[in-house]
Amino acid sequence: MDAENTAQSLGQLRDHMATGLIGHELLIERLLIGLLTGGHLLIEGAPGLAKTRAVKWLADAVDGGFSRIQCTPDLLPADLTGTPVFRPQSGDFEFVPGPVFHNLVLVDEINRAPPKVQSALLEAMAENQVTSGNETHALPDPFLVVATQNPIEHEGTFPLPEAQLDRFLMHVVLGLPNAETERRILDLVEAEGQGANVSPVRLALADVRAARQAAMSVHLSSPLRDYIVRLVTATRSDPFASDIDHPVSPRGSLALAAASKARAWLEGRDHALPEDVQTVAPDALAHRVVMTWRATADGRTARALIADVLDAVEPL
Ligand SMILES: Nc1ncnc2c1ncn2[C@@H]1O[C@H](COP(=O)(O)OP(=O)(O)O)[C@@H](O)[C@H]1O
Ligand SMILES: [Mg+2]
Repeated sequence: MDAENTAQSLGQLRDHMATGLIGHELLIERLLIGLLTGGHLLIEGAPGLAKTRAVKWLADAVDGGFSRIQCTPDLLPADLTGTPVFRPQSGDFEFVPGPVFHNLVLVDEINRAPPKVQSALLEAMAENQVTSGNETHALPDPFLVVATQNPIEHEGTFPLPEAQLDRFLMHVVLGLPNAETERRILDLVEAEGQGANVSPVRLALADVRAARQAAMSVHLSSPLRDYIVRLVTATRSDPFASDIDHPVSPRGSLALAAASKARAWLEGRDHALPEDVQTVAPDALAHRVVMTWRATADGRTARALIADVLDAVEPL
């Protein structure tokens, strides 16, 4: 497929996903941005909001391996990454790769996994490889992790450490549907019956790589880069800094730039606009900000702060 056909296929996939994921246009866009940037996603929302379904629908359209890891408190790092197994025939250890060795990995309820498992996963995400003993094993390319987490802090959950949240390109927060959307979901499930999802498009891994290359060569003008820097540095200066313990790091600027380009490409443009930056900024930046305890106690959230930053900083 050439770049133009790939763009068309992604457009078709987006429309198809929208027919089966009611009211989730934004989530679908975020998933495609993840696919285009190779940036991992954290999706937060109550159970039953079709998070797993959304990732499966994406997996159905992309060739290559898909795995699903259901996190529990007794999970071990090796359950994810793999283990060396002794082969008596050869007298050697052979590494048996774990479920993380797939192109698309759904990590369900990541906050139920113990910290050692979370850090093994986050390390794999950051380095695109797994170390076992003195061997390193490269993860497949493309490699995309979509993790889900429940917003309710149940007993026996382990919140992701703030420093590691930074490893996610975007943190998408899903709200509950309104009555009209809820009714459309019910209608859809009635109409669907037990019928399986059949994706009208099938992307080969080479197509995904080609799409990535095209999306990442979208033009991000010098004034737009300045805008990104002004947004990010606003979290390090007054009046915002007083509410913040840890502001956005340079990783945040890079994430914002990549996500903006992917968004522009999905909109059919070869150059990014301020609106691309503005639409992706909350999901790309809010999880990288740690508010002071005082701001938190006063009910100020990182997401609201990023909204204020977007209001305060002029695009051009
Ligand atoms: N917005 C939606 N669009 C379509 N189906 C939905 C939607 N929200 C919920 N559902 C239905 O609810 C079921 C539960 O979805 P699931 O993916 O298991 O949720 P989660 O992973 O968020 O807990 C889905 O299989 C689907 O039938
Ligand atoms: Mg689920």
